[in-house]
Amino acid sequence: MCGIVAYIGEKEAFPIVLKGLKRLEYRGYDSAGIAVNNGEELNVYKKQGKVVELENFAKDKDTSGGTAIGHTRWATHGKPNDENAHPHTSDNEKYAIVHNGIIENYAVLKEELIQRGHVFKSETDTEVLIHLISDIIEKQQCDLFEATRQALNEVIGAYAIVVISKDNPNEIIAAKKSSPLVIGIGKDDFYIGSDATPIVEYTKNVVYLEDGEIARLSLDSGLTLKTIQNETKTPYIQELEMKIEALEKGGYNHFMQKEIFEQPRSIRDCMRGRLMLNENYISLGGIEAYQDKIFAAKRLIIIACGTSWHAGIVGEYLLEELSRIPVEVEYASEFRYRNPIIDEDDVVIAISQSGETADTLAAIELAKSKGATIIGICNVVNSTIARATDCGAYTHAGPEIGVASTKAFTGQVTVLTLISLLFGKNNGEIDPARFSRLMIEMNAIPEKVEEVLKSDSYIKEIAEIYKDSHNALFLGRGINFPVALEGALKLKEISYIHAEGYPAAEMKHGPIALIDEEMPVFVIATQDASYEKVVSNIQEVKARKGKVIAIVTKGDKDVRKIADHVIEIPRTDDMLVPLLATIPLQLLSYHVSVMRGCNVDQPRNLAKSVTVE
Ligand code: AGP
Ligand code: GLU
Repeated sequence: MCGIVAYIGEKEAFPIVLKGLKRLEYRGYDSAGIAVNNGEELNVYKKQGKVVELENFAKDKDTSGGTAIGHTRWATHGKPNDENAHPHTSDNEKYAIVHNGIIENYAVLKEELIQRGHVFKSETDTEVLIHLISDIIEKQQCDLFEATRQALNEVIGAYAIVVISKDNPNEIIAAKKSSPLVIGIGKDDFYIGSDATPIVEYTKNVVYLEDGEIARLSLDSGLTLKTIQNETKTPYIQELEMKIEALEKGGYNHFMQKEIFEQPRSIRDCMRGRLMLNENYISLGGIEAYQDKIFAAKRLIIIACGTSWHAGIVGEYLLEELSRIPVEVEYASEFRYRNPIIDEDDVVIAISQSGETADTLAAIELAKSKGATIIGICNVVNSTIARATDCGAYTHAGPEIGVASTKAFTGQVTVLTLISLLFGKNNGEIDPARFSRLMIEMNAIPEKVEEVLKSDSYIKEIAEIYKDSHNALFLGRGINFPVALEGALKLKEISYIHAEGYPAAEMKHGPIALIDEEMPVFVIATQDASYEKVVSNIQEVKARKGKVIAIVTKGDKDVRKIADHVIEIPRTDDMLVPLLATIPLQLLSYHVSVMRGCNVDQPRNLAKSVTVE
């Protein structure tokens, strides 16, 4: 969840690393720092706050040099301040490290190192590592590569680390376990990033470090790859598909706004090559290969966090309705600690945009240890979770930079819809005529999303009315209940308004006590099987002076008479409504956040990928 960037080569390293940190700032922004080696000095500059604070601090300093490592932090051990900012250095200031993850046995190691005379400057777990490395160099007179390898054998926990030495500006050491790290291979230089975004404008040739691997990037001897057990590995160099334009805002004011408006394209890309309309079948080869296992499973267990968990609940309605396979949805953070009953007959679907969420990864490892089959639905190609699964499908939404997930959510729901159609057709649970209708409707979704996006200015007017609310309620029934949850999460995480999502029928069991003229209530009231009941729920709210903003099927006449505002979405199959009903709630939250002066793309306290527990 932090961002790591490094460079070694003939160019000036500091500006390359600084620019890379800005690209990764969405991963965490409590503090930022860069260590740069100019051949004689190892200069370390670090500041609490965003990367721009570091940039201003280093303006009049000596930032020359061809070797540099940088870090944007999301604190886990030690509050966000200058001392706890990375890079951290050894006592003799000869070695510097940046780290993403948690060293779980840091306290024991720190105690031992203090006993040996090491003096710590920070409260972080990370600093233990650089003292340990320097301790091993001193005792064994070995090089940085070997000392780092040995140190990592004493570490319990998760790490992506990059280490440099004052005495050898021609090499950088990098290692990874559970947190991501990518190496870019330039013509005569090397780049490192927590993901490919700081690298892609310089080179498309990359090596994704695997867990337990350690690399030396040397201007003298090139790239050397080993395991921390000292086995030599051959680097697998891949070519990046990502384009640099995908990382820019493309004329929008915020990444989140861009990503909301990208959804017609991202949903189309997600279906490309999978929804074979003319041939009337779904192509998900990787997952279909495990179909027998899935059909024989006692149930499907969906594990995820946050917005991905909401997609999982939509998936439960889709899978059970269309393929009649029993589904359970679990918070990954709960699943991993509650000693779940799971065995080789179970199939787990792990959903994660980043593919790096620590709780989801840990839940996967637990399920794998019990013999379960793991299906992955990720957005980031080659992410740790993607590589930990037996099979899966990428959402192909493109880089999602805004911390609040939007296009990844609709991508996840799209994949879950395709999987449900595939299973429902193959196990005979979907009537062929209904299957064909759903295929046609699914194929029309991108254009219908385009139509919903045209309501943006009207939704902005509604946002203006309710932007100063202190609370909000989101209600939905059936497959639209998780849409209500997602709408509430969007609003609270980017505008800091307290918001709750509830099943509409559940309101009378408590939340109705909250209703008064100050309470905006957002209701998904599309014309489906529960329409009349939702209309009654709206009446109940109005009877208590609540303000109702209803999402309705285009042409609806009844709700318009009782609600304060209605937002129309095109008619579609009941099972596909979440893909359309979510869009107005994304837009509403976006506008409210902007009107409240919040940081839309990097909301307070949040990070795009939570790679620690
Ligand atoms: C969503 O808007 C949030 N940023 C957050 O809840 C997110 O969905 C959650 O942290 C899971 O992330 P993942 O999908 O990358 O695993
Ligand atoms: N655990 C380290 C710290 O708190 C690294 C956190 C991160 O991944 O940003 O500094």
